[in-house]
Amino acid sequence: MNNFIEIIKKRRSVYNLNRNLPVFQDKIVDLVRDSVHLVPDAFDMKSQRVMVLLGGQHEKFWDAVYDELVKYTGESFSRKRIDSFAAGAGTILYFYDVAAVEETRRAYPMYVEHFHDWVMQSNGMLQFTIWTGLAAMDVGANLQHYNPVIDKMVRDMFDLPDVWTLVAQMPFGGIGRMPAPKIPEDINIRVKIEK
Ligand SMILES: Cc1cc2nc3c(=O)[nH]c(=O)nc-3n(C[C@H](O)[C@H](O)[C@H](O)COP(=O)(O)O)c2cc1C
Repeated sequence: MNNFIEIIKKRRSVYNLNRNLPVFQDKIVDLVRDSVHLVPDAFDMKSQRVMVLLGGQHEKFWDAVYDELVKYTGESFSRKRIDSFAAGAGTILYFYDVAAVEETRRAYPMYVEHFHDWVMQSNGMLQFTIWTGLAAMDVGANLQHYNPVIDKMVRDMFDLPDVWTLVAQMPFGGIGRMPAPKIPEDINIRVKIEK
């Protein structure tokens, strides 16, 4: 159990990323495949989808994100933040499949209004599992949300089906610098124990 919490402690939002991965890329791909298989989903509906961008595809993606933001805002601005993500070794894109959800939702009309929450909860579990798995391998990552502005660009760039809905983007790479330690808190304000 101690080891479990120690690994969770290693997961942070690392914004200073570089290309020097401490593990082979295959290890990251294996982590993603295993996590997608193992992370739970409501009614086991297997709604989650993930894309791993490596090397040139990762760089092309962040260039295109910048272009979309410029188009959206109508003005050019500093690329510093986008470049900090592109400086990593890759990016994991998280999606859910609307078709997979609809099929199950139709089968359970009683729970119709819960499905979106459940899909997002499962996607969050997947994000956390992969983020923490990366941290366990000393790979840094952070979590970004340029959707929905970039949704169409992503679908077009990677020829994805319309039913793939983008949820989050996770650039990862070697750790240039870790963030400051978490500030201690009185956890009893947020956790209640009843005996
Ligand atoms: C659901 C969710 C959405 C987040 N969205 C963003 C985001 O869009 N951009 C960003 O830089 N960080 C984002 N974060 C990271 C949080 O700001 C970060 O996890 C939090 O400040 C705690 O820091 P830590 O990750 O180092 O523990 C998000 C985190 C979560 C869980």
